[in-house]
Amino acid sequence: MTDTSASLESLYPLDRQRLPAHVAIIMDGNGRWAQRRGLSRVRGHAAGAESVRAVVRQARKIGISYLTLYAFSEENWQRPSTEIRALMALLTRYLHRELKEMQDNRIAFRAIGNLSRLPVEVQRELAKTEAATAEGTEMVLTLALSYGARSEIVAAARALAREVEAGRLRPEDIDQARFARHLFTVDLPDPDLLIRTSGEFRLSNFLLWQSAYTELYFTPTLWPDFREEEFVKAVWEYQQRDRRFGLTQEQIRQTGIANPRR
Ligand code: FPP
Repeated sequence: MTDTSASLESLYPLDRQRLPAHVAIIMDGNGRWAQRRGLSRVRGHAAGAESVRAVVRQARKIGISYLTLYAFSEENWQRPSTEIRALMALLTRYLHRELKEMQDNRIAFRAIGNLSRLPVEVQRELAKTEAATAEGTEMVLTLALSYGARSEIVAAARALAREVEAGRLRPEDIDQARFARHLFTVDLPDPDLLIRTSGEFRLSNFLLWQSAYTELYFTPTLWPDFREEEFVKAVWEYQQRDRRFGLTQEQIRQTGIANPRR
């Protein structure tokens, strides 16, 4: 593992003008990481929390504006209750321990998902962290918790249906922009880069609406082994891609900007 910024920079030289504004990550493989070492799954999650810390720091250092991490899906509620409890405890400890560093680095923390299903003490810690970092201007760190993209889309459809029912909205006035305003991600740009670790090639109900034009990056590395170097490598690889958003190369040249949708 390369640990100095200088050698990382020479391995994967980044173009600061073309950084992805928003990076989203499906953190997968904690269980397998632990199993390969004869450890409990919970030890895998604890090692995964260290990767969260390393990646948040690295993202901030590079100049990423938005980092969104899939920490707990709606489907994860079906896991054994001991594992769920351990994950919630890890999360609470993480928020508590990282608060000062987030404040010092002007990181604004947010949580999205069906948060009312979380234990009240976790909800309290999330609200406290959001309030205490609200002034952060350098990076928005979003944790997706009890999150499922299909539920998010259904909730948006319901909200719009209620407006139509109340006579405040005509069906023909529903467009993509209005729809997106009812998603949890209303304040976030769409992700430019979505990373999934552990060798799985699927989106697993994460940011399905928002990822329509996102560049996908898959790596066999298990999440607890995904640290600074792997993150920079993913961003570097993103910069080698040719994003077209369904336009021709000529149209992209005419817009004169790297990301005509932003
Ligand atoms: C997937 O690994 C990971 C999770 C379900 C939870 C992610 C949690 C963390 C990274 C640690 C705590 C989070 C924070 C924000 C401090 P898996 O258990 O599905 O792995 P497997 O597919 O190998 O079984």
